[in-house]
Amino acid sequence: MDKAKSIHLLNSAVADELQAVHQYMYFHFHLEDQGFAPLAQLFQRIAIQEMGHIALLADRILFLKGDVEMVAAGPVEKILEPEATLLKVMAMEEDGVKTYNQAALACAANADAATKQLFERLVGDEEGHFNQFEKQHDNIQRFGLNYLALQSFGSGTPEGGPAAA
Ligand SMILES: [Fe+2]
Ligand SMILES: [Fe+2]
Repeated sequence: MDKAKSIHLLNSAVADELQAVHQYMYFHFHLEDQGFAPLAQLFQRIAIQEMGHIALLADRILFLKGDVEMVAAGPVEKILEPEATLLKVMAMEEDGVKTYNQAALACAANADAATKQLFERLVGDEEGHFNQFEKQHDNIQRFGLNYLALQSFGSGTPEGGPAAA
């Protein structure tokens, strides 16, 4: 196993996760400010899960005797319109799934099964995030932005929307 190769893949993932935390918290602040509280909360919850991913990646980097490069992969995009925020994060999660699948394959080729398993776990989590964002996007398509505004009265369920269990 070439440890440096695994550490490089892990640090690239840390950078992507940091960018996601920054972007999702930016959306959290602005959607809350616009009165879309449940969607704002969804962004915050998922940002916290991405932070958990950083912790998992960091543990593995330190185990491999590397160091954690805490540099975000890119800047925050200043998108304010709710549907556009969802399209942005759906694209980010899809990219994440693709990148982590490729990283898992690279780890298999590098005989690093534990790092491969970590990337496979992240694939599952990011697919789950995509699914939650997509549900919100579908609901906006079906019901319009009023759907998001009405949720703010307190009975809305941001994950499933009004019709889902
Ligand atoms: Fe993540
Ligand atoms: Fe994610």
